[in-house]
Amino acid sequence: MSMKEVIVTDLVYETPTIISIHLAKLDGTPIGHYVPGAHIDVEGPTAVTRQYSLCGRPDGDDAYVVAVKREPASRGGSEALHQLSVGDHLKISEPRNLIGIADQASHHILIAGGIGITPMHSMARYMDVRDISFELHYFASSEEEAAFLPLLREKCPEKLHAHLGISREKQSEVLKDLVRNAPEGSHAYLCGPDGFMDKVTEILSERFSNDEIHFENFHAAEIDESQNTSFAVELDGEEYEIPADRSIVEVLNENGAGIDTSCEEGICGTCIMSVLEGTPEHRDNVLTPSEREANETMAICVSRTKEPKLVLDYF
Ligand code: FES
Repeated sequence: MSMKEVIVTDLVYETPTIISIHLAKLDGTPIGHYVPGAHIDVEGPTAVTRQYSLCGRPDGDDAYVVAVKREPASRGGSEALHQLSVGDHLKISEPRNLIGIADQASHHILIAGGIGITPMHSMARYMDVRDISFELHYFASSEEEAAFLPLLREKCPEKLHAHLGISREKQSEVLKDLVRNAPEGSHAYLCGPDGFMDKVTEILSERFSNDEIHFENFHAAEIDESQNTSFAVELDGEEYEIPADRSIVEVLNENGAGIDTSCEEGICGTCIMSVLEGTPEHRDNVLTPSEREANETMAICVSRTKEPKLVLDYF
């Protein structure tokens, strides 16, 4: 994946643990618009690359904004970004979308848990100025820990439902209520910590189909590799053996396939390929449930196969 160098133009503490980083082009020309819900890869000072949702105005030109939560167990990613100064340089990818506003929906229910507000923030701001029907449910542990809350209260107070410091039981009640009251034609969008996403997905599934639930999750799925076996992959008429201890993308790129990768953890979507034959064993956190069921695409940095052979094509 090609990365471009950008400069840090502003740093804003949204909460005691969440910092907004404003990134502009080195030559000062407009950085460009993006599709609401998009994310970028950011290579930090320690050469660790992570995915972050863009959370400013999608149609603002001056800078991209990402918000980074300082994680106590940071392996050098978030902590290093919290040490940045204005004027520092970083490398970023072009924006990509794993989540976006569904054209076919007549109403949009955005559900954010904690730092999961970031993609919802750009989607809400985009829909608000275009009079697109939406509601935003923002769950956070406290007012102090709720990034962008003052701005959301100012911009779209009637769309915002802030659920601050409520118990897990109350959280379930709120979610069941919003599912019950969702207008016909609604789609739901969620982003937040794993446990939160699981719970929301379970409650949403009582009413919404897989195609009506959209999510973003930048955490790698837990994978047990002890049962891995070797298998064959065919690409462009050539067959390759994928050993038990190697990924498809490693073997294909070693043989000159030139497939872009970024996270190599099944969370960014860069390496997705089309499946022409065979049944993938999906191990990513990128594809939607419908996409997994369809078995027409797979993330080849982590996913493997249920059958002896897969035939793949470029996506
Ligand atoms: S490289 Fe990110 S999903 Fe495969």
